Amino acid sequence: MTTRHFLSLMDLSRDELKQLLKRGIELKKMQHAGEIFEPLKNKVMAMIFDKSSTRTRVSFETGMAQFGGHAVFLSPRDTQLGRGEPIEDTARVISSMVDGIMVRTFSHSSLETLAEYSKVPVINGLTDFVHPCQLLADMQCYIEHRQTIEGRTVTYIGDGNNMCHSYINAARQLDFKLNIACPKGYEPDAELVKLAGDCVEITHDTVAATENSDLIVTDVWASMGQEEEQRIREQAFAGFQVNEALMKHADKDALFMHCLPAHRGEEVSAGVIDGAQSVVWDEAENRLHAQKALMEFLMA
Ligand code: CP
Ligand code: NVA
Repeated sequence: MTTRHFLSLMDLSRDELKQLLKRGIELKKMQHAGEIFEPLKNKVMAMIFDKSSTRTRVSFETGMAQFGGHAVFLSPRDTQLGRGEPIEDTARVISSMVDGIMVRTFSHSSLETLAEYSKVPVINGLTDFVHPCQLLADMQCYIEHRQTIEGRTVTYIGDGNNMCHSYINAARQLDFKLNIACPKGYEPDAELVKLAGDCVEITHDTVAATENSDLIVTDVWASMGQEEEQRIREQAFAGFQVNEALMKHADKDALFMHCLPAHRGEEVSAGVIDGAQSVVWDEAENRLHAQKALMEFLMA
């Protein structure tokens, strides 16, 4: 049997994805009820982090511990990968010892190379291209609050980045309408948008994109690795803040999500992220439960 990886939401069938979201909700209830469930007893997952992380590291490490397994944190500062050992060699060696590998890195093609040479499942913990684990958490969160995402309208305001790309894939897989409002020059990948067909619409008008929407999402203006573009991006994205005035155009029951970390006063106002429509803390907690469902699916 070929090894299954989770490099993007498109690596799952639509049914598998829906099942995984359901399982995340179940695992959350079990966890909250104090039920011990250890399907990964004695299993080990390596976690390679080329970029900073709070949520991804804590959720995967905690998830493995709760499942009876163990996680090994690896940073480029203390591995040979950081000193130039080829990804192919690293993948062969690590995957001969552990049961799964989670990777957060810059280039998506490096992740694909690692997966190609790995004997065990590889999970994408964020690349410059996509952030699929975050979408598992977001979709679980929406379903918990509003039953189904199918047929809804979602609005993504901001950079055509990894989060935006993963929302495009989610729209394709889960049948919702995605409006993307971004500044000119910061559009998402054209190929991905083309593949999504009618379910994705791109505009530069935040109000039009938000009209009657059920879920408003945003992300930072400068992602990890783009720190030196911060100033220029602040100018380009000046009209793209999710604030109380913009939220008024959404459906009255609309929710607000942000993968975090957030910059209050930049991509989102404090009033919105800390307000009644925001579900960002539930969203963040779901990283744990949704990824436990994913690890169970790939590794148990
Ligand atoms: N949302 C997210 O992936 O957070 P971290 O960068 O803290 O892992
Ligand atoms: N787009 C952001 C997401 C962080 C979780 C980044 O890549 O830095």
